[in-house]
Parts: sequence; structure tokens; C-alpha cells
Amino acid sequence: MDTRPIGIFDSGLGGLTAVKALAAAAPWESFVYLGDTANAPYGDKTPAQIRGFSRINTAFLRARGVKALLVACNTSNANAMDQVLADDPDIPVIGVIEPAAAAAAAATRSGRIGVLATHATVASGAYERAVKALLPDAAVTAVACPRLVPLVESGRTDPSDPALIAAVEEYAAPLREAGTDTVILGCTHYPIIRSAISAALGPDVALVDSGAASVDALLAALKGRDALGDKTKTGGRRFFCSAGREQFVKTGSAFLDWDMAGQTEQVDLGEARHGQIL
Ligand code: DGL
Repeated sequence: MDTRPIGIFDSGLGGLTAVKALAAAAPWESFVYLGDTANAPYGDKTPAQIRGFSRINTAFLRARGVKALLVACNTSNANAMDQVLADDPDIPVIGVIEPAAAAAAAATRSGRIGVLATHATVASGAYERAVKALLPDAAVTAVACPRLVPLVESGRTDPSDPALIAAVEEYAAPLREAGTDTVILGCTHYPIIRSAISAALGPDVALVDSGAASVDALLAALKGRDALGDKTKTGGRRFFCSAGREQFVKTGSAFLDWDMAGQTEQVDLGEARHGQIL
């Protein structure tokens, strides 16, 4: 047994989709969550910038004594996973891309798989590689969706919001044309607007939640090390964001369906850069 917390990070609210799945599957696990809202969105940044943010985020979480890291950000996975693995050799580091690719490969009937993701994830080709490693004949259509993360971060998640409907419609169109039967929500923010995406793609398209898909892999890694928490207790929950605490708490609480206010602090990751809070 290991009662230390799990460290989870994303550029903002997206990793809460993994938190929701974790809290449902393993309510006894404690976690520390970091949303780097000061630097979101990551998806339009350069690989070098994304690697820099990911390094700060993992150092911040490591300094809180975590027993495992969940990189609940596809954009960091696609651009910085090698670095996170090299920086954290002693604890399990779990990503979202491989579990999501495996779930999509298992779900598809036609082999036509769509990916909705950020620019930086699509540009990396990480999903094509991960899907084709499992299904070499799969046809993968990946669409970059730069308007979605800013909409989610600003709280515009209502499926009747006209700006959200217009953006989702534009990004869904190439996937409908390609005849995809399975679409990977390849950015952890997107399950927060799942109903808008599902409405645009139609009821016959299976959606894969990359944050939720990673939780089984995380728990399997902990179990394999005999490092699950104390199942007789409820785990501790702490959230940090690096800007805009009020909006983070408001949208996050609505999505998680619990009040995060008393569990959430805003931190200055600029100070982390200078070693003051690490
Ligand atoms: N939620 C993240 C992802 O899965 C980051 C999105 C962003 O900040 O652009 O890619």
C-alpha cells in the first residue's frame, strides 16, 4: 500500500476529465492536480515551450511527494513525454495517448478513426503512430481544433452556445466526410463539451475520452507495484491553478459535480522556475 498522492497535470481544466474518472474508479486515491492556466492553451505553443511548461509542472508535483504522475494533457504527451520520463525515472509516468489509441482500436469496426486534438498534438503525428502500431491498416483523420480550449477555459461549455456549435461543426465536418466510426477526443478538455461534439458527429460515432482511458492504465501501474492507496479511506484532493482561480473553480466544479473551492489554490509557477516553491 502507498498512501502518497498521485500527481496529475494539464494546461488547465482538461485533466479534470481524468480526475472525474479516477474519483469514480478509485475514490480512495489521493491526488494533487495542477492546471497551468497561466500558460493555456498549450496547443498553439512550440514544442520547446511545451517541454518547458511540462518540466515545471512535473517538478512542482514531484515536490509534493507524488507516487505516480499522470500527464493528463495530450499536447504534453505528444511533445514532452520523453523528457518527463527521463526526469522522473523512479515513479510510474502514465500518459493519455496510448490508452486512448488502444480504446479506439478496440472500438472501431471500419478502421476509420478520427482524432480531434490541438495543433501541437496533430502536428506531432503521435496519434497516427499510436493507432497504426495497433491497427496498421487503420485510416486516421486528425483535425486540429484551436478554438475549443479557449472556449472551455472561458466557461463557454453550454451545448447551445452558438460559438461552440459553430466551432464544433467546422471541426466535425472532415471526420463526417471521412466516414469515421470512432473519434478520439485527443485533448482532455473535449469531454467537457462532449454533448456538443456528439451532436455534430451523430449518435453512431463512438467517442473515446483520452483522460478517462488513461485511468485504467494508471491504476494497473500502481497495482503492479503494490502501490494502491488505503481502500478503507477517502483520498485527499488538492487542486492548483496558475491563474484565474475563480473561473477554474467555477467551470471545474460544474464539470466534476463537486465544489472545488475549498480545495483549490492559485500558485505562481514563475516562482517555481526560480526554485522557491519546489
Ligand atoms: N488539454 C490539453 C490536451 O489534452 C491541452 C490543451 C491546450 O492547452 O491547448 O491537449
